[in-house]
Amino acid sequence: MKIFAVSGSLRPQSTVTALLRAATALAPGDWDIEIYPSLGALPHFDPAIDPDDAPEVVAAFRAKVEEAGAFVVASPEYAAGMPGVLKNALEWLVGSGEVYDKPTAVLTASPSPSGAARSRAWIVETLTIMTANLREDAVLGVPMVRSVMDGETVTDAQTRERLTAMWAALAADAPEAPGVEGGWRV
Ligand SMILES: Cc1cc2nc3c(=O)[nH]c(=O)nc-3n(C[C@H](O)[C@H](O)[C@H](O)COP(=O)(O)O)c2cc1C
Repeated sequence: MKIFAVSGSLRPQSTVTALLRAATALAPGDWDIEIYPSLGALPHFDPAIDPDDAPEVVAAFRAKVEEAGAFVVASPEYAAGMPGVLKNALEWLVGSGEVYDKPTAVLTASPSPSGAARSRAWIVETLTIMTANLREDAVLGVPMVRSVMDGETVTDAQTRERLTAMWAALAADAPEAPGVEGGWRV
């Protein structure tokens, strides 16, 4: 299955993006997970140019979401919410509908005990209004993220289990899920 993932952090040393990369190692081996490298390259969403004059980078971004069997949104928390760069990316997907009924997982993390709970709540609210197929058990917060990882590896057993369960929840509704013939929603 093809999975398209975004991270709300643009930092090269991002803990959230490192967690997302580490999490891919715990996903089923036959999944093809692409982590989009350039949310920062998307221009500000502007309904005055959408859809007729939407830039090529936006069209390519939308196509990635459309083609994927499932969508993963990973993010830190900035000022008690999701980072603006992520909100902007999601706004480009509101009218065009690529996330409609799309099996979607949300992964937030922070160096604090909250696990970026307020960011997560906002992302869930936004994706819900966008009618993504969001299961409660595919929504995960990782607190104290720096203490559960060593470089690019999740070292904490409980966090590994929670990430594995997140992938299983995503698979339950996604195409080519074990035991589901001919794609999803059959
Ligand atoms: C502008 C800014 C605002 C932040 N606001 C919050 C916040 O509201 N809640 C929180 O838990 N952490 C907050 N943080 C701390 C981030 O959780 C922390 O920097 C985290 O490592 C960012 O994720 P990253 O490592 O993936 O870039 C903020 C950081 C920045 C730079």
